[in-house]
Amino acid sequence: MSSNKQKTVLVAGGAGYIGTHTTVELIEAGYEVVIADNLSNADLSAVRGVEQIVGRSVPFVEVDCCDTEALRSRVFERYAFDSVIHFAAYKAVGESVAEPLKYFRNNLDSLLSVLSLMQEFDVHNLVFSSSATVYGQPEQLPATELTPRQRANSPYGLTKQMSEDIIQDTVAAIPFLRAIALRYFNPIGAHPSALIGELPKGVPNNLVPFITQTAAGVRKELAVFGDDYDTPDGSCLRDYIDVVDLARAHVVAVGRMVAATAEKREDRERYEIFNIGTGTPVSVLELVHRFEEVNGVSVPHRLAERRPGDVEKIWAATDKANNELGWRAERNLGDTLRAAWAWEKRVRGL
Ligand code: UFG
Repeated sequence: MSSNKQKTVLVAGGAGYIGTHTTVELIEAGYEVVIADNLSNADLSAVRGVEQIVGRSVPFVEVDCCDTEALRSRVFERYAFDSVIHFAAYKAVGESVAEPLKYFRNNLDSLLSVLSLMQEFDVHNLVFSSSATVYGQPEQLPATELTPRQRANSPYGLTKQMSEDIIQDTVAAIPFLRAIALRYFNPIGAHPSALIGELPKGVPNNLVPFITQTAAGVRKELAVFGDDYDTPDGSCLRDYIDVVDLARAHVVAVGRMVAATAEKREDRERYEIFNIGTGTPVSVLELVHRFEEVNGVSVPHRLAERRPGDVEKIWAATDKANNELGWRAERNLGDTLRAAWAWEKRVRGL
C-alpha cells in the first residue's frame, strides 16, 4: 500500500505518447504515479525514458484496463489512489472506421472498468482524454466548450463522445466523484530532453510524425491532403498544442479536483470540460514551412487529394482553460517543432 494516498495518481495508458509526458509532469509536481498499460501501442522503453528524465523508478503494471479483475487485483488492491488519468484507448481514426467493434469494445470497456473500480475503491477524481473531434466541423470558430457537439464522423470520435456522456452520468450518480474531460486539439512535439516522444507503429497517420519521418528520409515525401479548402492557403487549419503544455493541463486538472474534494466545494460542478489548445490556427503548409525553417531541413511534399473525414478548420477558444483552470499554452511553435525533430533524430540515430 502506498503511504501517500492523497497524492497518488493512476495513469491508465501511461506508457503512450501523452501518458509518458503527463507522468513526467506529475512527478515533477510532487505526485506519486503508478502506470498501468497493456503495451498494445507503446513500448516499455518509453517508461524507461520517463525514469531517466525524473531520475527514479516509476511503478509500472502491464495490464489491460478492460480486464476489470486484473486491474482490481494487480492495481487497485495494491495501491491507494485519489485520482486516475484515463488515457487507455485506441486512437487511429481510419482503423476505427474499418474495425468499429474493436474501438467500441476497447475504449468503452476500459473506461467502464476504471469507473467501476473508482466507485468500488472510493477513488474521487478522474481526468479523461477527450478530443476536439467531438465538435466535428463547428459552424462558429473558435470552438468553445459550449459549441454543440456534432455526430462524430468516425467510431473513434464516437467513443470519445460516448465516454464523455458515460462519465457525466456516472459522476451525477456517485456523489464523491469528480471528473474533468480535456478536449485536446492537435498534440505535437516531444519532451525537450528528447528522451520521450511520439513513436507511431507503421506509417504515421498524423501530420508531425509524417513530417519528421520525411525529413529523416524514412518516407519519400509528405502528401498535403487538400489545397482547395476555404482557408488562406487552401490547406486545413488546426490548433497544434505542445505535448508538454498538454501534459501540464492534466496536472492542473488533478490539482483542481484534489483541492475541490479536500475543501468540499459544493459550488463547483463535479463534471467539467476544458478545451486544451493554443487558440491559434495554423495551416498544414504553414506548419511544414515552419518546420523546415526552424530545423534547417527540407521536407519534400506534394499537394494531394483531400483526406476523407478531415474537417476544414478548427481551433480552440481557450478562455475557459485560461481563466477557470488557470492553464495556458506556453511553448512556442518553433520550440515545439525543434523538439519534434530532436526526438526523431534520436530515434533514428541521426
Ligand atoms: N495531414 C496531411 N498529410 C498527412 C497527415 C495529415 O496533409 O500525411 C493533414 C490532415 O489532412 C489535417 C492535418 O494534417 O489537415 C492534421 O492531421 P492529423 O492527422 O495530424 O490530425 P487530425 O486533425 O486529423 O486529427 C487529430 C487527432 C485525432 C482527432 C482529431 C480531431 O489525431 O485523434 O484531431 O479533430 F480525432
